[in-house]
Amino acid sequence: MPKLEINGVTCDAFVDESLLGAARRHKAHIGYACGGHGLCQTCEVIIESGMDALSPMNDVEMAWLTAEKQQKGHRLACQVQIKKDATIKFTTRAEKARRLFNNAFLAKKETLPPTSHPQGHVGEFFSFLGMETLSHLAGVPMAFGNAVGRIIDGRLTLNSINDAVSAWSERAPEIGEIINKTISGLPDAIAPVTTVITDATKNVIDAATKIIKGATGGTAAESGAKDGVQAVPIKVEKK
Ligand code: FES
Repeated sequence: MPKLEINGVTCDAFVDESLLGAARRHKAHIGYACGGHGLCQTCEVIIESGMDALSPMNDVEMAWLTAEKQQKGHRLACQVQIKKDATIKFTTRAEKARRLFNNAFLAKKETLPPTSHPQGHVGEFFSFLGMETLSHLAGVPMAFGNAVGRIIDGRLTLNSINDAVSAWSERAPEIGEIINKTISGLPDAIAPVTTVITDATKNVIDAATKIIKGATGGTAAESGAKDGVQAVPIKVEKK
């Protein structure tokens, strides 16, 4: 039986199971905003060992991931299957972001790991955020082209897109909760700024969900939230 080490936690897996499937089964900290249809890149992981036990990179991954990321072992967990008995070690991008955020704003100074970034841990977090945003945006045209190609050849159907919208709707309350917890751990001076950002994020998700549902016939509206994503109460809790 294959073994996984996800974000430092050891667990089991099955041959032909996807990395995302195994990670979700073990409740690992991983994104899957599109429900595993290769439309969002939130399931990105960094493989540290065991790459030869995984399925080769497919066209969806090549569309989303820059050449540099491909070279450094980044994969989309929803697109990768485990192909043989081996130990595969990886870190999710969501967990990497959480650790950097924690180092920048929440951890006690004496417990911090060393950083070579000239602006310290805060600079390291914002550099990561900036680079990830840029590489994500850079991947959008290719990924959009790839999605159109998959619609044409029948690999991506209306049901898959509605499924992806439903996944967004289902995840929204969970995302809101994570944001709430994060804000409550921040110094009071930063909290108003983050509230604006989280409100804006919710509005963007809401608007995007409505547009996609409108374009795809709104099947997701019947199986998921009634009208757009569910309301996520975002509030600042004082320490
Ligand atoms: S879950 Fe969206 S690309 Fe993998």
